[in-house]
Amino acid sequence: MADSEKFPIAVLISGRGTNLKALIDYQDHSLYQIAVVVSNNPDAEGLEVAQFAGIATEVLDSKGFDDREAYDQALVKTLAPYSVKAVIMAGFMRILTKAFINEFEGRMLNIHPSLLPKYPGLHTHERTLEAGDAEHGLSIHFVTEELDAGPLLLQATLDIEDDDTADTLKSRVQKMEHEAYPLAVNLLARGDFAYQNHQACFRGQPLKGPIMLNKLQALMQQHHASDAH
Ligand code: GRF
Repeated sequence: MADSEKFPIAVLISGRGTNLKALIDYQDHSLYQIAVVVSNNPDAEGLEVAQFAGIATEVLDSKGFDDREAYDQALVKTLAPYSVKAVIMAGFMRILTKAFINEFEGRMLNIHPSLLPKYPGLHTHERTLEAGDAEHGLSIHFVTEELDAGPLLLQATLDIEDDDTADTLKSRVQKMEHEAYPLAVNLLARGDFAYQNHQACFRGQPLKGPIMLNKLQALMQQHHASDAH
C-alpha cells in the first residue's frame, strides 16, 4: 500500500520514545503512517528516534503558555497541517483539556502501565508492588477528559515474581507494550477498533471489557490463516 493511502497518525511523546520506536518498526506491516511526532519536551530522546526514521517532528514547549487551554489550542494548530486521523499518546506527560479532546474525541489512544482502573497516574510499578498484587500489566484505552479512565480496548498481564522490583516490572511491562501498541493502532487504522456512543467497540460490537493481548494475537493468527486459504 502506498504511504499516501495509509491512515495518518500523530504520535505524542515526552521522553525516551521506545513505544514510538515500536510503532515505527511495525509501520511497514501496518495500515498506519506516522505523519508527525510531537513532543512537549525539546530534549525528548524520542525526537531523534523519529528524525532517524525520516519522520517530521514538532516541539511545542509548554513554556510561554498561560494555561493548559492555550497550550492545547496551540497543539491543535500544530497538528492541523498534517491532517491526521488519530492521535497516539506514547508517554506524553501532559493532562489534556477539552480544547484538545473535543477536537479528537474517539480518535485518541493512550497506553498506560497498569491494569486500569487500577493505578491511574504515576508510579504504577511501585504501587502494584506496595499493594502486594499477584498481577500487573498494561492498558490501552481511548482518551477522555478524565485521566487514564477512557474506554478500555486492550490489556496484557504478567505474573509478579517474588524478586520483581519497580525496575524489572517497568521493563517487563514495556516489552509487552511494544508488542501491544502497534497492534492496537493498526486495528484502529483498520476500523476494527472504534469509538461509538462513548464506548469502545471491536468490529462493530461494544466491548464489555478490554480484549486480552494473547486472545487478540490468537485471533489475528486465525485471521491470517484464513486469509491464506
Ligand atoms: C510507557 O511506559 C507508557 O505506558 C507510559 O509512558 C511510557 C512511555 O515510555 N504512558 P516510552 O517513552 O515509550 O519509552
